[in-house]
Amino acid sequence: MDNLKNNKYMTILEAEDGQLEELMRLSQNDPWKPVFHIHPECGLLNDPNGVAYFNGEYHVFYQWFPFGPIHGLKHWAHVKSKNLVQWERMSVAIIPTEKYEIHGAYSGSGIVKNDNLLLYYTGNIKYSEETRYANQCLAIMNKYGEISKSISNPIIRSIPEGYTGHVRDPKVWQESGKYYMILGAQRKDLTGALIVYESYDGVEWKFKGELKTSLTTFGYMWECPDYFSVGGKNILVFSPQGLETKGHDYQNLYNVIYAVGTMDIENLTFNIEYINELDKGFDFYAPQTFQDGFGRRLLIAWAGAAENQYPTEKNQWSHCLTVPRELFFEDKILKQRPVRELEALRSDHVHIQGYLDGNSVDVENNSNSYELNIELTSIEGSIILLDLFKSEEERFRLSFDVKNDIALIDRQTFSNGIGNEIGCTRTAAIELGEKITVQIFVDCSIIEIFINGGALVFTARAFPLELVTAITISANGKLKYNVNKYNLKKAI
Ligand code: FRU
Repeated sequence: MDNLKNNKYMTILEAEDGQLEELMRLSQNDPWKPVFHIHPECGLLNDPNGVAYFNGEYHVFYQWFPFGPIHGLKHWAHVKSKNLVQWERMSVAIIPTEKYEIHGAYSGSGIVKNDNLLLYYTGNIKYSEETRYANQCLAIMNKYGEISKSISNPIIRSIPEGYTGHVRDPKVWQESGKYYMILGAQRKDLTGALIVYESYDGVEWKFKGELKTSLTTFGYMWECPDYFSVGGKNILVFSPQGLETKGHDYQNLYNVIYAVGTMDIENLTFNIEYINELDKGFDFYAPQTFQDGFGRRLLIAWAGAAENQYPTEKNQWSHCLTVPRELFFEDKILKQRPVRELEALRSDHVHIQGYLDGNSVDVENNSNSYELNIELTSIEGSIILLDLFKSEEERFRLSFDVKNDIALIDRQTFSNGIGNEIGCTRTAAIELGEKITVQIFVDCSIIEIFINGGALVFTARAFPLELVTAITISANGKLKYNVNKYNLKKAI
């Protein structure tokens, strides 16, 4: 690791012969490596970047440090797909070789303009915390997939007056004939904010000002902003740092918020009606959305938490992204549901149905990459438990406290713990009636749980000691269950 830290600012162009192949070899047989979630072949992945539907294909880029599982010099890695399911690895998209991005090509977004995909990102400069600043940069991918950096780079030099060096993660959209860019920022008084630039051509930008919201003191830094409309509602998403846990809210060190309201970008205001968290799990951060050819608003996030150590580090890789999720705005909730294309991965269907009355039932399973759909009806008892990865010593548990309208996930029994200092459970309030539906995607060490049509989502990583596949449902009262389970095939 020490040697690795010395090489923290090495680009992939400086790799020694065989160095990456060796790292990939060390990581390839890790049983915790997902088979259908986007993950790095070696090194560390974090935020998704530049997600877009372009020229008939889906493109996902992600923050990547190739040389080990640490937050070293960030590159943009690239995968693409024709169907949102089967991912092809492409050459690394952005390598931070230039002075204006010397300490990393940080996160950003993509937007299609004519025959090109414009990729906006932050050139990170950090000689020390005191001299830290950032430039905003542009890379252009043409329809042949060739990527070049703009000759106008950096398209925005340094930081506007009133903010610290923490300004990053451009999200660009088009509205009324103009381009707008919002960036996560930290004010000089160490509170988080969003700032806005505007442009007529996407290359020459003018600082417009700070986006005014009612959240004037809400954490010390806002990262990875996103702005879009779904179901006729304006939604602002961002990842604030420095919120304190409040009941079921903000249980992670860094959390992700969506604000529902009305954007008036000309007048720099987002009038917030209310805010909520996007995902109540342990491992969810820096999501990005885009609209695809069907007009769907799709979201992909980093299934990770920056402050934690993960046990795959010993095998030279860490983290993965979530599956693509479609967004819906229903019942005042921003709901997330896995994209329907994932059905193409299904095989080996298992179906069971029946009644529980204070007892339990096992769901036959022989894989750790599967989709589990559970419908519980005629619920009379008060506690329902679902155990995954169940062995003598360990289990990942989802439980419902029906009387108190609470859902909970629990990974405390795993001896490969992650971030246990801030708790091994996460909770959420949810109206539970006589019927609960749960859709779960498990992929070796990642679990994504969608409850009641995506009204509540938990994303979590878990690292079982051995490859146990047992699944059990139990309840302290009566209920009727209908379960469909499919193994899911390899897709990356
Ligand atoms: C969020 C983040 C971004 C930044 C990137 C660097 O996880 O801190 O704000 O651009 O990661 O990798």
